[in-house]
Amino acid sequence: MKILVVGSGAREDAICQALQKSDRYNDVFCAPGNAGMRLFGVQTVGIDELEFTKLSDFAIENDITYTTVGPEKPLVEGIVDYFQSRGLKIFGPNKAAAQIEGSKTFTKRLMSEAGVATAFYQEFTDFGLAIEYIEKKNQFPIVIKANGLASGKGVFIIETLDNAINILHQLLNDHRFGTDKVIVEEYLEGEEFSLMAFVHDENFYPMPIAQDYKRALDGDKGLNTGGMGAICPLDNIDCDIVYQAYKDILKPFVKQMHREGVSYTGVLYAGLILTPNGVKVIEFNVRFGDPETEVVLPRLKSDLSKVIANLLNGEDVDNISWRDDGVDLGVFVASNGYPVKPEIGKSIGPKEQFTNTQLNLNFASVAENSHGLVTDGGRLYLVHTHANTLQNAQDKIYSYLDSVDTTNVFYRKDIGRNAI
Ligand code: AMP
Ligand code: GLY
Repeated sequence: MKILVVGSGAREDAICQALQKSDRYNDVFCAPGNAGMRLFGVQTVGIDELEFTKLSDFAIENDITYTTVGPEKPLVEGIVDYFQSRGLKIFGPNKAAAQIEGSKTFTKRLMSEAGVATAFYQEFTDFGLAIEYIEKKNQFPIVIKANGLASGKGVFIIETLDNAINILHQLLNDHRFGTDKVIVEEYLEGEEFSLMAFVHDENFYPMPIAQDYKRALDGDKGLNTGGMGAICPLDNIDCDIVYQAYKDILKPFVKQMHREGVSYTGVLYAGLILTPNGVKVIEFNVRFGDPETEVVLPRLKSDLSKVIANLLNGEDVDNISWRDDGVDLGVFVASNGYPVKPEIGKSIGPKEQFTNTQLNLNFASVAENSHGLVTDGGRLYLVHTHANTLQNAQDKIYSYLDSVDTTNVFYRKDIGRNAI
């Protein structure tokens, strides 16, 4: 098969590697990809993820079997509808279904119709009414979320009224993240985990659960990021809890989408939290999670390229099989300054540093110059390994990272810590 992957991050690198591993005769392209992927032979195509006409021209000219989409932005902006209008096969939800990630209020309503447990919430467009509500509730912490896409940075855990006033001012008056609506939400406490599933209409095929480390610094301190590392599977979430999540969350949600005519083909991501009152939904995303994908897909024993092809053709995909031994761990290396203002154009090492290792690397925001790779954004590359125990996985990854020059980069030293 000839497959085009849209996106440029470590998640897309992991998808490309899984597709390539599925069948060595697969020819995999990534648009736009990044300079790090090219070190390992991924064929990158210099077309941006939002240039739908050029991407579809490429798919036609190169006889691409199907396209699969990594990030949410092109999905929310309708890449699937556009490709389909030109008769092309593409894996991901259409624009209407991608609202599940694009609009928090749309998804909250779907959850409520489906009877899916989530935090109690109210939506506001008016600054004064939002403050009045929070003041009256007088219950902290409370959560404020920007409606719309904010790359994982639009969620604020609020500890004081002053803090609420400040954030609401930024979101509703200054329209940070381009938002004009917020959700004020009950704060949930518990262990978080991510459950992804392949979905086609009413059917879903779950993947193993994973956990993402969202805060920038060790001990879950610092700001929220796009994810600083991940682990799969998790020993601290029992399988009956996972089963409960299939039965009480994925199944009714997928059925509700279908009932409302939201036709969904793609990966659905549920960010879940195990509270004292059972599993609840923190968020739904309409794509593979990042960095969960980098530790989940290496556990897939079935042929990913066929799973996707079968889903696209509406064929049976009941036999998806996963590794059940050991652990997959991934640690992200990020630019100094991330997530606020990552430094760009800084050296992160010669190419040999990345090619002379047995560990698996997934590249994200990196570019190259004549000396090697340089920073081109916040998260740079994820170091992944499989090992029989968490300790062995950490030893392998952190002994490699000990040899890395950290003048321009940082990483968390406790990924996997509380998962086993
Ligand atoms: P989101 O972008 O919605 O996944 O939120 C990012 C992170 O904020 C989540 O992974 C949680 O750690 C935290 N968060 C979001 N909503 C809540 C909530 N209602 N209660 C507690 N923490 C939350
Ligand atoms: N890991 C969180 C996300 O992919 O949104």
